[in-house]
Amino acid sequence: MTKVSGETEVTTMIANQRTSYGVTQIAQLFPSLRKIKDKSLRERVAAVWSEAITTGCGGKGWTFDELRAVKFTLLAGDIDMKFVEHLNSCARQCIAIADVLENSFRCRIPIQRDHLIAGALLADVGKPLEYDKDASGKVIQGKFGQQVRHPFSGVALAYKHGIPGEVLHIIATHSHEGDKMERSIESIIFHHADFVDFDIAKLLGKRAAKK
Ligand SMILES: [Fe+2]
Repeated sequence: MTKVSGETEVTTMIANQRTSYGVTQIAQLFPSLRKIKDKSLRERVAAVWSEAITTGCGGKGWTFDELRAVKFTLLAGDIDMKFVEHLNSCARQCIAIADVLENSFRCRIPIQRDHLIAGALLADVGKPLEYDKDASGKVIQGKFGQQVRHPFSGVALAYKHGIPGEVLHIIATHSHEGDKMERSIESIIFHHADFVDFDIAKLLGKRAAKK
């Protein structure tokens, strides 16, 4: 099973002998996890990620190194942007946007930062389930991912771990599936941060294809 070098947190084994990662280990992938002030929410976000990592890839699970090597999006072609980097970029963009909004308007814009950061970190938590590897080891959208895209599997997984509705809403509405819904303030912020990265990735992919 996967191991993280230098880990200090006790790695627990659950009944089926699957490794379970805690806040310390998940924060190695996603440092913004530590910015969630509510300890219980922080731990729940880590637990959701732990389950996604250990049960994804068609049930085979991912090592941290494998996850770090996954491309940001399978839709953008040959670009050197990684999935983990994208999540960290979005979480940091969300915090920066919240800072700007809170200092730009006389009317107070109510932003629930813990929900915003948790949503940013969990919006794509279904992707380790959506993605699989083909016989050559290439990362592809697996059968389950074709049936259930990551906003849906992400909500299902997060609900299991007691993630609050405000955060489930961000996961559910962050992508085009949420276009028919009225997004919350936190979801609007994440949705746009997400598409800043995505649109740039698509442009870079187009440029790379022309070369
Ligand atoms: Fe997404």
